[in-house]
Amino acid sequence: MKNFRVHFWSFGVILFFVFSCSSEDANPDLNGNNQNSYIPLKELFKDHFFVGAAITPAHTDIRTPHGRTLVEHFNSVTAENVMKPDAIQRIKGTFTWTEADRIVQFAKENNMKVRGHTLTWHSQTPDWFFFDQTGALLSKDIALKQLEEHITAVMTRYRGMIDSWDVVNEALFDWDPDGQIIYREDSPWYKIIGESYIDSAFVYAHRADPDAKLFYNDYNSIFSWKRNKIFDLVKRLKDNNIPIHGIGLQGHWFVGTSVEDLRTTLELFRGLGVEIQITELDLSVYLSSNEPGSVVYTDEFNTRQRIAYPEIFRVLLDYSDAIAGVTFWGIGDDASWLDTPGRKHFPFLLNEQLQPKPAYFDVQRLLRR
Ligand code: GLA
Repeated sequence: MKNFRVHFWSFGVILFFVFSCSSEDANPDLNGNNQNSYIPLKELFKDHFFVGAAITPAHTDIRTPHGRTLVEHFNSVTAENVMKPDAIQRIKGTFTWTEADRIVQFAKENNMKVRGHTLTWHSQTPDWFFFDQTGALLSKDIALKQLEEHITAVMTRYRGMIDSWDVVNEALFDWDPDGQIIYREDSPWYKIIGESYIDSAFVYAHRADPDAKLFYNDYNSIFSWKRNKIFDLVKRLKDNNIPIHGIGLQGHWFVGTSVEDLRTTLELFRGLGVEIQITELDLSVYLSSNEPGSVVYTDEFNTRQRIAYPEIFRVLLDYSDAIAGVTFWGIGDDASWLDTPGRKHFPFLLNEQLQPKPAYFDVQRLLRR
């Protein structure tokens, strides 16, 4: 009898493990989600768009949690900083490839796409691109020649390895309700060359790698004051046969971001016949920049993201015929450029331990029930 009881008990334990491993509803957390049953992001969206992350070279070590998470969830990467002009050519004529190479190599080994970011920008670009030794602005000819040399060198090195390049970043003026000021006029590129630096950058880029998709990338792109300028710019470029293939919506959003503005923007940009990508997605838990900071992921933050994240992905899925990829500007909530002392933004679908958050399961439910 004793033996029978032991066997019966062991049989029960085995049955429990068999069922808990196979059942979708086993092991629920406090929000009713099964932490064992998530579908990796790249699998979840495989019929719709690629899913990327902005990374540092250290993240490419697959012996680390970040490296393993990248391989598990993402099929595209963007260099958060190491492909920017100040990282690649800090000193004129001296190119530093090591860190960028590491990211490209990692992507190749793991069958991931790479988004190249970025070639022409007013920020994180060394002064020698714009000023002579006396501090005076360079001539238009010299500035353009240097830009061409930079774009050609970088794109030639990675020719055939980069899916899409952010050729020009943030060239438009950000806040202008009357629509009077179109360009970011304090950008040294604009000061020296005027708006045609944008056209030239795309021409140089296409010459250097005719197969790469070339993007204009900007933030606040979904708001009326900015999206119309982006539309006009991209339309002008296309009408003039300038090789531009896509628009990058950075996607640095707050939970209160209007999904209607997102929808209107996607509808408008789709009409241009260019590819759209969300290039730098992070969804801050705050309603606005004025809300007091917290370093704790509160129930309120959780609820807000459980509402906002699926709303956003619902719209992205509705436009997935035009959207080729969605890239997060980081991997998990452990690190984000948004964070400051006393104020964490918890902007991702993976938490500080790189595990799926409740909002992840809400997004997952849009596709798999
Ligand atoms: C912009 C740039 C990115 C990055 C973020 C903030 O969106 O395009 O390269 O610098 O700001 O980290």
